[in-house]
Amino acid sequence: MNILIVGSGGREHAFAWKISQSPKLSQLFIAPGNAGTSEFGTNVEIGVTDFAAIRTLVIEKNIGMVVVGPEVPLVEGIHDFFLADEMLKKIPVIGPVSRGARLEGSKDFAKQFMLRHAIPTAAYCSVTKENLESGISFLRSLPGPYVLKADGLAAGKGVLIIENLDEAEQSVREMLGGMFGQASETVVIEEFLSGIECSVFAITDGTDYKILPVAKDYKRIGEGDTGLNTGGMGAISPVPFADEIFMKKVEERIIVPTVRGLQRDGIDYKGFIFFGLISVNSEPFVIEYNVRMGDPETEAVMLRINSDLVELFEGVAQGNLAGRQLDIDPSCAVTVMLVAGGYPGDYTKGDLISDLDLISGSILFHSGTRFSGTEVVTNGGRVIAISSKGKNIPEALDLSYRNAAKIQFKNKFFRRDLGFDLLK
Ligand code: AMP
Ligand code: GLY
Repeated sequence: MNILIVGSGGREHAFAWKISQSPKLSQLFIAPGNAGTSEFGTNVEIGVTDFAAIRTLVIEKNIGMVVVGPEVPLVEGIHDFFLADEMLKKIPVIGPVSRGARLEGSKDFAKQFMLRHAIPTAAYCSVTKENLESGISFLRSLPGPYVLKADGLAAGKGVLIIENLDEAEQSVREMLGGMFGQASETVVIEEFLSGIECSVFAITDGTDYKILPVAKDYKRIGEGDTGLNTGGMGAISPVPFADEIFMKKVEERIIVPTVRGLQRDGIDYKGFIFFGLISVNSEPFVIEYNVRMGDPETEAVMLRINSDLVELFEGVAQGNLAGRQLDIDPSCAVTVMLVAGGYPGDYTKGDLISDLDLISGSILFHSGTRFSGTEVVTNGGRVIAISSKGKNIPEALDLSYRNAAKIQFKNKFFRRDLGFDLLK
């Protein structure tokens, strides 16, 4: 079978690496991909929301399965587009239809969903310009800090956490006034939950599900979780506090009610569900849903899946996931992200990356790279993820850090403290 991966980051490179190991694969295409993905397939210069061009490619290349990496094409209805087209409707898309993707595309939708299906999450109130006063009184009833979220997709920037009540009130007004454009025409005000976060991933065919390895990502640029939020500076799997007892609670209180809830709401969900969870005194709460795999979590999680991923995807497409095998490697996997200096603020692109051939014992997943002639150059803030396995977390981290020191590009930066909160 020929397979198309939609996307261009480290997550998609990790998918390409894993899918290329499947005996079921004939040819792999990645749209648009990056300098790393071309090692496993053919990059095709098509944007992730250019559905018409994707359609042409799928027909021309006789593609039998489409795996969607990022959320934007899912929210914009790539799966619905396939279902509505005579030529494409039988080709499986791994990723939910747009109604399912609203779990990520609208925070208000996700909160209503969790309330309706009794899934533990922070108390909230959704506000628009019409009910601003009730939103402000909800805000005043909270102890603080105050969590304000733009309802729509805001490229990971739509969440504000504010200590001071007056500032929070002011920010609600500014958000409604267009701080995040249309995405903040509705604002979700939430109770602040204090705890430690982790990323739980499931894959579902709409009825059954399988739980993939759990991971923890590191979002802040600075060591000790300080400074600005980034797309993710690294990830570790498994997560020591997400032990059997915790995961049993997660499955019973969160995963099962989510999959059943989607069914009850008449949403035929086929793809990944990413539960962004927080453990509050060992009780799990949902911070957010995403309708895709995490990045950089995928760059660690893929190393721990022994089974054929394409086989699992076929189970998703055919609605017989329950009969498929998911074999998880008990060892640890980590990924360390190398970023361009200045990121997540201003940074340069097009800088030469050298000494990639010196890497040993780790796997590189490119995030933001491209070819310039025969050379690989930086093409984003997050540049390369260095993934390693080990019998424990320190061993895996040590391997990634050794290799992180070898790769060279201008103003290379990475966090050297990954796992600091797990290894105490
Ligand atoms: P989100 O985009 O919803 O994942 O939010 C970004 C980050 O804000 C999360 O990873 C959390 O660290 C934090 N956050 C979001 N909601 C809450 C909440 N209700 N309580 C505490 N922290 C939160
Ligand atoms: N690592 C978090 C995300 O992919 O949203």
